[in-house]
Amino acid sequence: MDLDKAIRLRKSVRKFSSKKPDWRDIIECIDSARYSPIAGGNYVCNFILVDEKEKINKIAVATQQDFVAKAKYVVVVCSNPGRLVNAYGKEGEIYSRQQAGAAIENFLLKIVGSGLSTCWVGHFVEDEIKNLLDIPSDSNVEAVFPIGFELKKAIAHTRREALKGKARTKKAPIDLDRILFFNKFGQEEMVKQKKLRD
Ligand SMILES: Cc1cc2nc3c(=O)[nH]c(=O)nc-3n(C[C@H](O)[C@H](O)[C@H](O)COP(=O)(O)O)c2cc1C
Repeated sequence: MDLDKAIRLRKSVRKFSSKKPDWRDIIECIDSARYSPIAGGNYVCNFILVDEKEKINKIAVATQQDFVAKAKYVVVVCSNPGRLVNAYGKEGEIYSRQQAGAAIENFLLKIVGSGLSTCWVGHFVEDEIKNLLDIPSDSNVEAVFPIGFELKKAIAHTRREALKGKARTKKAPIDLDRILFFNKFGQEEMVKQKKLRD
């Protein structure tokens, strides 16, 4: 799928059809997360693909969001800042969280390109998820992603049909001119640069 289209089609989906995704498609989405920028050459993220119903139910409880339990697969993303903190001190902790965000966006765009749907779930009781999935105590749980096919009236239920379908691109939540500045914070116009002499 065209990148611009994937960016504009991405949206949070909280209702899934009963059709089970092919787990190999989800692995491909996780694979794409390896190509994001990484601080200091240290890859910090792990992706845990969960398909055990009992665990998915417990993850849903930890998120306090029932729709999570309706997914056939859940991907939990965690990061371990240890090596980045060793290398960069406190900044390493920030780099680690930023790196996870970049990896997650790759993952999300690939999910769109695969005809799948998800929702970034960032509200959860972290210790419950760590205990459930044996995530090391020095790691951070970044987010939970229930994965499925979007449930819509008469929506295409297979990956190929979903990809063929005429999904509507969405409106950006904020106007570009409210978030874009030039050369300094608050400067809303691009000032023409004076020509430098040779
Ligand atoms: C860090 C983060 C945490 C989020 N946590 C939740 C959440 O716990 N539950 C939920 O339903 N959506 C959550 N969302 C999804 C947002 O609600 C959603 O992205 C936003 O409303 C914009 O809608 P869109 O994703 O369809 O563009 C989260 C998004 C981000 C980036």
